[in-house]
Amino acid sequence: MSPETVYLNGRFVPYAEAVVPVEDRGFLFADAIYEVIRCYNGRPFRLQQHLERLEQSAAALEIPLPHSREEWARIIDELLQRNGVRDGSIYLHVTRGVAPRAHTWSEGLQPTVVAIARSGGGPSPEAVRDGVRAITVSDNRWGLCWVKTTGLLPNVLARQQAARAGAYEAIFVRDGLVTEGTSSNVFVLLDGTLYTHPLANILPGVTRGVVIELARENGIEVREQAIPATWLERAGEVLLSGTNSEILAVVEIDGRPVGEGKPGPVFSRLLEAFGRRVAEETGGSAGAREA
Ligand SMILES: Cc1ncc(COP(=O)(O)O)c(C=O)c1O
Repeated sequence: MSPETVYLNGRFVPYAEAVVPVEDRGFLFADAIYEVIRCYNGRPFRLQQHLERLEQSAAALEIPLPHSREEWARIIDELLQRNGVRDGSIYLHVTRGVAPRAHTWSEGLQPTVVAIARSGGGPSPEAVRDGVRAITVSDNRWGLCWVKTTGLLPNVLARQQAARAGAYEAIFVRDGLVTEGTSSNVFVLLDGTLYTHPLANILPGVTRGVVIELARENGIEVREQAIPATWLERAGEVLLSGTNSEILAVVEIDGRPVGEGKPGPVFSRLLEAFGRRVAEETGGSAGAREA
């Protein structure tokens, strides 16, 4: 059953009216934090510890919490009272806020705050009496990089880090191997061969497929194999591919020039071929255009 009243951004509103805009970053990117607090006899249990953890989560993601501990406590008390909850739980949810979709965020966003109180919860009498079953699973949090999920928080944080460093993209390195960018796939040209991470635990980029196709059509050897991060220093060229980025040359990584520090000949050939392929298939033109 839905609670009667929900707390949303400073107001207690009827449940049906508690809606958030479609471009809330919590919805778009899972760019949000939360707490669930049990409440016994109308009193939140271990509230201080929950608020402390909320503050730690907020600090880690640089989400400015809009309330002090005293204010959270007052909001929670009023919510419990308004909904007549004595034994139940409070769900607290804070997102980075609402903005046109982009991985990076700008300062000054107003966080979205939601609090929902519900009666009930806790283990069933059967579970307490009889015990419960469990299974084991491999801990692959987050090992499903091939899924185009909106759970993009690691990508968001990496991209923000890149932006702060004056960079366009952040290239992920896992276990010493280059995997992909936060919203692009990565190609490395070494000794005339174009390498890209195989389709294993990366996003299978549509543009990546196009680049491989065009490279092969143009006599450029492509190998889908793991790329040690150390190769980046020796690479002649490094390219990014993505729906929005199309094909881009990376000219500097971690402050060091890639190759000659300017877009290289393989990039130029692929870019030209990409433009032709887009024109053939759509009649339109790819490439840089004014905003
Ligand atoms: C993590 C990641 N890798 C690669 C890509 C590139 O994929 P596509 O070429 O299909 O846009 C994206 C696109 O957003 C992405 O999010």
